[in-house]
Amino acid sequence: MAFPQTRMRRLRASASLRGLVRETELRPGHLVPPLFVTEGDSASPAREPIVSLPGVERLSISALVDEAHEVAALGIAGVMLFGIPAAKDAEGSSAWDEEGVIQTAVRALKRALPDLLVLTDVCLCEYTDHGHCGVLREDGAVDNDASVELLARVAVSHARAGADLIAPSDMMDGRVGAIRSALDEEGFTDTPILAYSAKFASAFYGPFRDAAGSAPSFGDRRGYQMDPANGREAVREALLDVAEGADMVMVKPALAYGDLIRAVKRSSRLPVAAYNVSGEYAMVKAAAAAGYLDERAAVLEILTSLRRAGADVIVTYHAKDAAQWLAQQS
Ligand code: PBG
Repeated sequence: MAFPQTRMRRLRASASLRGLVRETELRPGHLVPPLFVTEGDSASPAREPIVSLPGVERLSISALVDEAHEVAALGIAGVMLFGIPAAKDAEGSSAWDEEGVIQTAVRALKRALPDLLVLTDVCLCEYTDHGHCGVLREDGAVDNDASVELLARVAVSHARAGADLIAPSDMMDGRVGAIRSALDEEGFTDTPILAYSAKFASAFYGPFRDAAGSAPSFGDRRGYQMDPANGREAVREALLDVAEGADMVMVKPALAYGDLIRAVKRSSRLPVAAYNVSGEYAMVKAAAAAGYLDERAAVLEILTSLRRAGADVIVTYHAKDAAQWLAQQS
C-alpha cells in the first residue's frame, strides 16, 4: 500500500472544501459587547475614550442608545451593561437606586430597541467607595451574607427596569439562590440568571478597573474570586450555581481558561458564556497597533477558539468589529 493512504490535506484543498467540513461556527448572534454607561446625561450624546481599552468608550445614556442601534444592526443579540455612577458610598447604595445609572439606561434601551437583549452585571464594586464587590466588616473583610442581601436588591431593581438577563459577578456564596428567590418574590419568575460562576482573581481585569473606576482601594479580590490554579473548583462553583437556579453559567477570563469552558459545559449541561475580558482585548489591540499581528485574523481565531472550547455566548469588546468582519466574509 502506498504511503500515506490517509491524506488529511485532501479536505483542506479549497475554501469550499474547508467550509464544507468546518466544525465550529461563529456568528454575530453569539457575541455580546460590554458597554460602559455614565450617569448624568447631557442633552447631546457624550462619549469618552478609555485609554487602556482603545476603541471602547464610556457612554452617556443617549450615546448608549445610539451605540445599541449600531450593534443591533450588525446582528448582535444583546449588550452587557456596566454602570459608572455619579456617587459612591460604603454600601454601594446607588447600585439599587431606581433612578440609578443602570436602571435609567435599561429603561432607555428597552424603549428604543425592545428586541435587543439587555444583560446587566450585578456587583457592588463600581458603586462602593472602597471598590470591593460587597460590603465590609469592621475587620475589612467582605461580609458575604450582608453583601448577598444587597446584591439581591440590585438584581430586582434591574429586573424592574426591564433587564432581560441578570448577571451576578461578585462571587459571594449563595448569591444566585438569593437573587432567584428575590426575583421570584417580586414577580420576575421569567427573568433568567447568567451566573459568573467561575470568575478568577485575574491580572487581566486591569483595563476594566480603569474604565469603571472599580479597583479596590486596599487589598485584592483573592478572598472571593477564584485561584487561577483551580479547575475542579470551577466545576464545583458552576454546579452550585446550577443547584441554586442559574439558567446559564460563565467562565471568566476566557483565553487561558479554555479547559474550564469545556469542563463547565460538560458538567453543567447549561448554556455557557465565556468572558473575553478587558486585558485580553487590550493585549490584542496593543500588538495590532504595534504591527505585530493582524488584528482581524487574530480576533476571529480567538473568538472561534472560544466557541470550539464550548462557549455558546462570548462577551467581548471585539463584538462590533468581529460582527462587521463576519458580515464581510459571507
Ligand atoms: C465586576 C466586574 C469586573 C469585570 C466584570 N465585572 C471587574 C473585577 O472583578 O474586578 C471585569 C471585566 C473585564 O476585565 O473586562 N466585579
